[in-house]
Amino acid sequence: MGMSRNVEECCVTSHPTLKETTLSHRMATENSHAAHTLKPYPYQVAGHAAQGALKLTDDGCVLKPVQRPPKGMREVVFYDTVFNQSEKREEILQLRRLLPFYHGIVEIDTSKYLKLENITNKFDLPCVMDIKMGRVTWEDNADETFKERRQKKWPLREVTGFSILGFMVYNHQKCCHEHYDREWCQKLSTVQDAEKCFHQYFGGVQFDMTSDILGQLLTNLMDIKQWFTTQRLFRFIASSILIVYETNCSRKLGKHQKSHEQSETVENMHQRSPTNLLVDTKIIDTAHVFPSTDIDDNYLFGLENLISIFEKCRQEYAVN
Ligand SMILES: Nc1ncnc2c1ncn2[C@@H]1O[C@H](COP(=O)(O)OP(=O)(O)OP(=O)(O)O)[C@@H](O)[C@H]1O
Ligand SMILES: [Mg+2]
Repeated sequence: MGMSRNVEECCVTSHPTLKETTLSHRMATENSHAAHTLKPYPYQVAGHAAQGALKLTDDGCVLKPVQRPPKGMREVVFYDTVFNQSEKREEILQLRRLLPFYHGIVEIDTSKYLKLENITNKFDLPCVMDIKMGRVTWEDNADETFKERRQKKWPLREVTGFSILGFMVYNHQKCCHEHYDREWCQKLSTVQDAEKCFHQYFGGVQFDMTSDILGQLLTNLMDIKQWFTTQRLFRFIASSILIVYETNCSRKLGKHQKSHEQSETVENMHQRSPTNLLVDTKIIDTAHVFPSTDIDDNYLFGLENLISIFEKCRQEYAVN
């Protein structure tokens, strides 16, 4: 299947933003980055980022371009609200843990960027997957033609309430990452297709470690679910969960301490305890988050299905 890197159209129309009037942007002035010090970010699996828009800073963060209005400003306002230092609301404080840390806005050559924690930074050979949440990925006032087009393009969303936008898995035989892009993922239309795709994604590690990775991943997803079952502040439209796990078997020596002598053998890798596993799960792409007073059922529907599918996968790995 094609591996071309297309950008998903974004088509949520205008909507009241979060408290834009009270906004005072956190400018990351302590981190002034010159354009020439930025590197391309190598683990972009979906989104506008697939065009190479995300940049890597020399202090290990990513810069995500602030998109055109109203999307870009909405995301800035969202991060400013959640990471506001005078914020006391417990739901917001809890939400921070589920997002990449926000370092403010950076301006380089007249372009503005959100400076975010790089979720893959602590990994040597990350396997990354972007899962867009929700059956509805458009705003209330989107027109019928648009909705139909979206539904046709992403048939899996209708059934599961989520869609896989792209993923990267490390191929140990070929010693390189393989990128499954948007076009490839759009062909996944049934739950069985999604299950097969997850098996492919978890193929970056030895079979018997997968159950532990899935266990850790499920703990992280339950944490997100716990937050969503109680919060009544936001409605997340077209937001993603980014999943990352480590596939470097000598990882426990630390990123800069690898040596051939010390590399983990296949035997002791099998005895590795789950605490040595490295898995991270964060909410990303918040350009369509809106204020709300209700439970976000659209998000929760997808999240509960995702959890069920991962639980099933985990059982399969555990018995085999
Ligand atoms: N904080 C982060 N750390 C590491 N990787 C990230 C981070 N944020 C985004 N990415 C990578 O960039 C990709 C796109 O990110 P995101 O969805 O936020 O951008 P976008 O351009 O708004 O996408 P969309 O077209 O879906 O609106 C993700 O799939 C992921 O691979
Ligand atoms: Mg996205």
